[in-house]
Amino acid sequence: MTWVEEVHRRADEQLPDYVAAYFSTSAGYGQCQREGLQAWDALRLRPSVLRDTSAVSTATTVLGTPVAFPVLVAPMAQQVAARPQGEVLTARAAAAAGTLLGVSTNTGVAFADVAAAGAPWWYQVYVMQDRSLTQRLVERAAAAGAGALVLTVDTTALAPALPSVEPTDWPETYRKARVVNLTDAEREAAGPHAMRSAEDLTPDVIGWLRELTGLPVAVKGVLTARDARRCVDAGADAVIVSTHGGRRLGTSVTSVRALPEVVAEVGGEVEVHVDSGVREGHHVVAALAMGARAVHVGRPVMWGLAADGQAGVAAVLERLRADTVTTLRQLGVPGVAQLHPSDVARP
Ligand SMILES: Cc1cc2nc3c(=O)[nH]c(=O)nc-3n(C[C@H](O)[C@H](O)[C@H](O)COP(=O)(O)O)c2cc1C
Repeated sequence: MTWVEEVHRRADEQLPDYVAAYFSTSAGYGQCQREGLQAWDALRLRPSVLRDTSAVSTATTVLGTPVAFPVLVAPMAQQVAARPQGEVLTARAAAAAGTLLGVSTNTGVAFADVAAAGAPWWYQVYVMQDRSLTQRLVERAAAAGAGALVLTVDTTALAPALPSVEPTDWPETYRKARVVNLTDAEREAAGPHAMRSAEDLTPDVIGWLRELTGLPVAVKGVLTARDARRCVDAGADAVIVSTHGGRRLGTSVTSVRALPEVVAEVGGEVEVHVDSGVREGHHVVAALAMGARAVHVGRPVMWGLAADGQAGVAAVLERLRADTVTTLRQLGVPGVAQLHPSDVARP
């Protein structure tokens, strides 16, 4: 059992079955999620010798924000189902570790409470069918101190074979946790469909979000060079290569497969980040060598939160940081800034 599997096991012991299933679930038969995990492990590093690695540096910046190491917490809905304080605990752990977190549109925590935890945070945007609701949310997030917007464009539908894991089917106490940064009156006035994700999005939404807030926009869920180009031409400041942790399309290419073509297309112009299946320091190092500026980690953080609250998130982040340092030393590279594509042998 890997260390992440152990955290997962301990989380599941403490969670209601439907919450555990929602955290773990993936699209299709789980092919994309499984292959996404395997793809990171299939990468091979090419160690260098006779290099001074007595001092290893993992510090970098992401969209201008300094972080102690390039592992960010992915935005995830329903953290309040892992622990009632949800993102407040995640943010405290991120602050202590020197990194930042994404905060989902479907967060159960008020922006002010996330901000008070002291970590830099980026607001993840699902553009709703009623765009005036999205406008209010991004303006509130910006006013509360979000440092960037993460526009998620791979709007997901969970596998139809598993409808019971959708939070809409959960008991009322959990369902109420969604989109708390709108008022009850706003939600009621909007009606049942207005909060659904818009299906008519085009790249001009990137400029719209930037104009509303002045914040940099990272587009999350890009898996082709073609789309990366469209996003950058429309003003994106970063693209995040992501399969949504294998939750979007079971037959999708993996992030590892998509990353090189996206880096080749836009890596010289904007930051390229990657997520989905990153579990170990050698995955982090390989991602950076392949041209990613940072990785985002999802489920391991959620499982850490469920298992041990703030300390559990802290332990997951520390494990990834320390493992990244060890891998850099073993590879003979003195810092994340010195990683190069030739440090990875791809299958
Ligand atoms: C329980 C759960 C909830 C998620 N909710 C969101 C969300 O609200 N918005 C979003 O953009 N991505 C969401 N994601 C996807 C994550 O941001 C991220 O892309 C993914 O978890 C990375 O893969 P990993 O879990 O293998 O690390 C969610 C993922 C999980 C596991």
